[in-house]
Formats: sequence, structure tokens, C-alpha cells
Amino acid sequence: MEIKKICVLGAGLMGNGIAQICAQAGYEVALRDIEQRFVEGGMNTIKKNLARDVEKGKMTQAHMEAVLGRIKPTLDLKEAAVGADVVVEVVIEVMDVKKKVYAELEAVVPEHCLFFTNTSGLSITEMAAVTGRPDRFIGTHFFNPVPVMRLLEIIRGHQTSDETLKTAQEWGKKIGKEVITVKEAPAFVVNRILCTMLNEAFFVLDEGLASAEDIDKGMVLGCNHPIGPLALADLVGNETLLRVIEGLHRELGDKYRPAPILRKLVRAGNFGRKTGRGVYDYGKK
Ligand code: 3HC
Repeated sequence: MEIKKICVLGAGLMGNGIAQICAQAGYEVALRDIEQRFVEGGMNTIKKNLARDVEKGKMTQAHMEAVLGRIKPTLDLKEAAVGADVVVEVVIEVMDVKKKVYAELEAVVPEHCLFFTNTSGLSITEMAAVTGRPDRFIGTHFFNPVPVMRLLEIIRGHQTSDETLKTAQEWGKKIGKEVITVKEAPAFVVNRILCTMLNEAFFVLDEGLASAEDIDKGMVLGCNHPIGPLALADLVGNETLLRVIEGLHRELGDKYRPAPILRKLVRAGNFGRKTGRGVYDYGKK
């Protein structure tokens, strides 16, 4: 199946990165969010990322303008979805909210349109079941920062067709990602391992075994990780991490219990870089 227009729902951390790389790959992109400030924030991040590439000589000014010209920001779901071959849904990690979005989408997308959900760990099969197209529904899990991280983890739902899987795999390569394909399970493959490790770093912090700085330094210098686990949690968003861990805990048992300090940070609104404060202080937002 040929993809021309992509509708990205959600202009936040992940959504704007996905819109950017799709436009860079030559697709026409509609970037939709529910408030003007979110759409503007997403477009500003894309402009900043592309301008940095121009500054470094990785991209010409003319190419940057062509990429930006392919992205249409909007608040209107119908306008975003009309004529879309693929919807990449990147809304908040709450199952009921995602299901509501899919119910609205069904009324406005063309019959052939594929639904790709970017989720950190929610069930693809459960989301697909509320649509009239579970065969044309698949999980496409991106990593933050989207323009930098090379992986796309593709998750097949219970009813995903072979054709949808093949289209998603080819699309992943076209937007410059290395693809792995995994079976559906809570948090899939990468986040099951990664988020469990990040949660463990919070337990270590809670138990006072070392300072946050030393926990991170230990994993960077001792294991060659590019960034320490607590700094990574701040990058991903502590609220997102907690949702993944809660999902693992709910479905797989006590081994995945969230660390109390992680919960506390989220309750305090200390989500990480996006709020200006998480484990570390980034200066007020
Ligand atoms: N957007 C776009 N580009 C970015 C960026 C961003 N937010 N942050 C950094 N970059 C680019 C820089 O411009 C630079 O590009 P260059 O190589 O062309 O000069 C390159 O990335 C390296 O950046 P820096 O030199 O500023 O900083 P670092 O070398 O420290 O790299 C990092 C930053 C890429 C974020 C690195 O620390 C890293 O790889 N961290 C681990 C990230 C990770 O594990 N992500 C996965 C999280 S899990 C997830 O997302 C799943 C979800 O479901 C929870």
C-alpha cells in the first residue's frame, strides 16, 4: 500500500519528533493537538531541531523550509484526518482516552486508513478492538528523542493483518529507523527491560544506597550507558515511566511494584525535563 498523507495525533515530546521524521522522509503530514499552545510548542521544537541541523551543515535552509512546508499544524481532527493513509496516534498514555480518540477517528478517516499507535506499553489488541478495523491496527513504539534514536519497535496486535505489518515495517525503514517486530505483551520488549531497570534505580535511591548523581555516574561509567537511569527517567518523563511500571505491576505481578519515590515525584508534578524538575532541577519552566 502506498502512503502519501500521515496524520499525527499529539504534538508533544514524541508526536512532534514523529511528524518531523515523516516530513523529512517526504510524506505530507498533518500534526494535530487539542490546544493551540501544544501545536505551537510542537512546531517550535521541530523548527529548533531542523535549524540545528542547518547550523551544523547537515541540511540546507531550502530543505528545512521544504520539510516545514510538508507539515500542517491544526486543532481540527477532521481536517487532520481527511485523506490520511495512516494515523499515528500519540495521545496521552491512558487507555480510555486513546479509545475515545479512536471512536472519533472512525467517523472521519478513509476506509483504507491504517492506525499506528505509539504507546509505551498499553495493549494494542484492546485499542484495536474498539475500532472497526482491528486488522489495520498496529503498535509503532518510538524512542525519545525520536529524531535521534534509531529503533522502531513494531508490535502486532491479535488481529493485525500480514499486510498491515508489512506496510508498517516498510514505513519504518523509509523514515530512517531500524525495525524490530515483537509480540504483544505488557510494555512489549524494550520497555519491559528498560523501565524495570529505571524503577530499580529509584528503589536504590529510595534506600539511600547512593546519591542520584552517583547512581547515574555508576551506570554511565560502569556500563557504558549514554545517560544514567535517573537522568533518563527525567528525559522520558516520570509520569510516563510510572504508567509503564503500573501496567507491568498490574499484569505481571509484584516483581514490578513501582518505587515509592517515583510515585512521590509524579504526585508532586516533578515529571522531569518537561516540567523543569524531576530527580534533577532543570530551572523553572
Ligand atoms: N531532539 C533532537 N535531537 C537531539 C535531541 C532532541 N531532543 N537531544 C539531542 N539531540 C541530538 C543532538 O543535536 C546531537 O546531534 P549531533 O550528533 O548531530 O551533534 C546528538 O543528539 C547528541 O546530543 P548531545 O551531544 O547534545 O548530547 P548527548 O551526546 O548526551 O546525547 C542523547 C543526548 C541522545 C539523549 C543521549 O543522552 C542518549 O542517547 N540517551 C539515551 C536515550 C534513550 O535511552 N532513549 C530511550 C528512552 S525510552 C523511550 O523513549 C521509550 C518510552 O516508551 C518510555
